[in-house]
Amino acid sequence: MIQAKKYTLDHEQLLKNNNQKKVYIETYGCQMNVADSEVVMSILAEEGFSLTETMEEGDLLLINTCSIRDNAEQRVRGRLGEFRRVKQQKKSVMIGVIGCMAERLKEQLVEQEKLVDLVVGPDAYRSLPQLIAQADTGQKAINVLLSREETYAEISPVRYASNGISAFVSIMRGCDNMCSYCIVPFTRGRERSRDPQTILNEVQELIDNGFKEVTLLGQNVDKYKWEKEGEEAVGFAKLLEMVAELNQQMRVRFSTSYPQDMTDEVLKTMASHHNICKHIHFPAQSGNTRILELMRRGYTREWYMSRVEAIRKHMPECAITTDIISGFCSESEAEHQDTLSLMEWAEFDLAFMFKYSERPNTYAHRKLKDDVPEDVKSRRLTEIIDLQNKVSENVKQKDIGQTFEVLVEGVSKKSEEQLHGRTSQNKTVVFPRKDAKIGDYVLVKVNSATQATLIGEIVE
Ligand code: 5AD
Ligand code: SF4
Repeated sequence: MIQAKKYTLDHEQLLKNNNQKKVYIETYGCQMNVADSEVVMSILAEEGFSLTETMEEGDLLLINTCSIRDNAEQRVRGRLGEFRRVKQQKKSVMIGVIGCMAERLKEQLVEQEKLVDLVVGPDAYRSLPQLIAQADTGQKAINVLLSREETYAEISPVRYASNGISAFVSIMRGCDNMCSYCIVPFTRGRERSRDPQTILNEVQELIDNGFKEVTLLGQNVDKYKWEKEGEEAVGFAKLLEMVAELNQQMRVRFSTSYPQDMTDEVLKTMASHHNICKHIHFPAQSGNTRILELMRRGYTREWYMSRVEAIRKHMPECAITTDIISGFCSESEAEHQDTLSLMEWAEFDLAFMFKYSERPNTYAHRKLKDDVPEDVKSRRLTEIIDLQNKVSENVKQKDIGQTFEVLVEGVSKKSEEQLHGRTSQNKTVVFPRKDAKIGDYVLVKVNSATQATLIGEIVE
């Protein structure tokens, strides 16, 4: 059994260490990047770095980047401008670009962004100490090697960005799906699963430290598979069960599910464990079968609908959220209407909606034409957003009058007397505090709702 390395440094301690070199880190993109930054912080803490939340105080400024859409990259470039401004004032400062943009742009990044000293891809974080030493001598330091094995399995992340209640635990890395629009297989490499024992160790450590919610992360969690000679293979349903059975007070979430691969076994495991949250993020991307084929998603509109029906059959109370892309290559008006009708039918609790953004070297870039005009993409996106707003409103009305178990996560920004937390369905609820404390489970009856939150009161 591999023992998780223990790093006792917590957020408070990291901030207090005054005489050490300081790292400032900003994270963009998905939850996986947030989890990766915590691994990076763990590696740097071992090297004696402490954390600062003020850019001007940093000796090392890191930006963990995202390449998913062009506008994500533009945003990062904007922030790099700010980093550079600090370096111009203080020459000794080192700037590092890590994550998906580092992987995608490699040396190009050092050439384009003159003041970047370090470029480190998602599988190369263990080499950060050597790269920093190299950059210290004035050389540019780059490592963007992708790995077939790296899962940072035994590194115990420093939970510097956490509220002390919820944490991310990465269970696999990379992606083999090759959806035609997507950059992720190029930036994060091949799919690989992490040793389940190291996952259980990490969750146990969280339980011991008073955490109450864990989110298991992977690009496609349904493909999780750990195989070792002489041992029974562990798939995602089994892993979920093992994590959920560690402690009934620990909520378990996961992301992201893939419609083609999600099994009834996973649904049954969810249904039979109270502490596995009743929420599935279930990206549809489009409601039209021809477009789904061009996207290389591997399922049809009908298949997607049948999986939604399966979720509802096993767990009528389960929230379903989705991702939608508008204006993919050659999408017609009628095909766009199919997406709208799917959204209306599925009654998603929430949707993340994007305009298609062509990414270099993807199948869509090489073989398909990005031929839906920008104004049409925008108009379709607006229609998609408007419809989802209506759907969300209807779904919310159904929550009013119901009582939910809520995990208390914090004090409301607006009033000391109000607490906020989330339901199993991942909906935020605000309510008067009574005697409840952060980390408690309380029953809250929902009385009303605003655009983004439910408002309620604690009931016995
Ligand atoms: N253009 C627009 N949206 C994209 N996504 C992924 N790649 C692209 C792209 N090239 C969206 C998908 C995915 C979410 C994380 O981002 O909807 O599920
Ligand atoms: Fe962005 Fe995708 Fe990389 Fe996450 S995996 S940071 S969403 S490009």
